[in-house]
Amino acid sequence: MNTDISSFNQWIEAWDHFYEKEKELVDLDPNAALVSSVSSDGKPNARVILIKDVSQEGFTFYTNYESRKGKELFHNLEGHITWYSRAQGASIRVQGKVKKINTNLSDEYFSSRDRNAQISASISKQSYDVDSREVLDKEFQEFAEAHEGKKIKRPDHWGGNNHYAFKSRSMEKQR
Ligand SMILES: Cc1cc2nc3c(=O)[nH]c(=O)nc-3n(C[C@H](O)[C@H](O)[C@H](O)COP(=O)(O)O)c2cc1C
Repeated sequence: MNTDISSFNQWIEAWDHFYEKEKELVDLDPNAALVSSVSSDGKPNARVILIKDVSQEGFTFYTNYESRKGKELFHNLEGHITWYSRAQGASIRVQGKVKKINTNLSDEYFSSRDRNAQISASISKQSYDVDSREVLDKEFQEFAEAHEGKKIKRPDHWGGNNHYAFKSRSMEKQR
């Protein structure tokens, strides 16, 4: 099963080839990938995210602008995604410029999430230590009560600036 991805005319065809197959092979999080960034003092960092959309515009995932990754990706506008398929023995690497997607799309995606996820995103201080699980649960509860029966607006720290699209520059099959 050796696929020469140079035979694909477009990078997105190569992505579709592996990803469509992955969805058949893997039930849990076939869209999981690593996003790498570099801190302002040159230290590399990576973490798992879920890829939510892939188009000619690039790879999109959703996150918190004020998180460590948010700060690191935007200080030099460079990012890297590594997607790995154990089932297919393949790895796809995407290197490119980081940019924000349209805020309307951010709103749309935020409102499509379930209410608990919206509350979590609203109170989340991603990448920062919290005092305890109890403190977080209390904040969650208070927010939920204060917004009972109301539409939850996408928070500024989560919207507009906090979605990134990576323009693909390279992909390869490894083994
Ligand atoms: C399976 C899985 C999926 C995840 N998906 C996301 C995601 O889509 N967006 C996100 O911001 N964090 C996601 N996380 C949490 C990140 O891995 C990370 O812990 C968090 O974003 C803080 O990273 P940072 O401190 O480097 O900014 C996911 C974690 C796991 C294990």
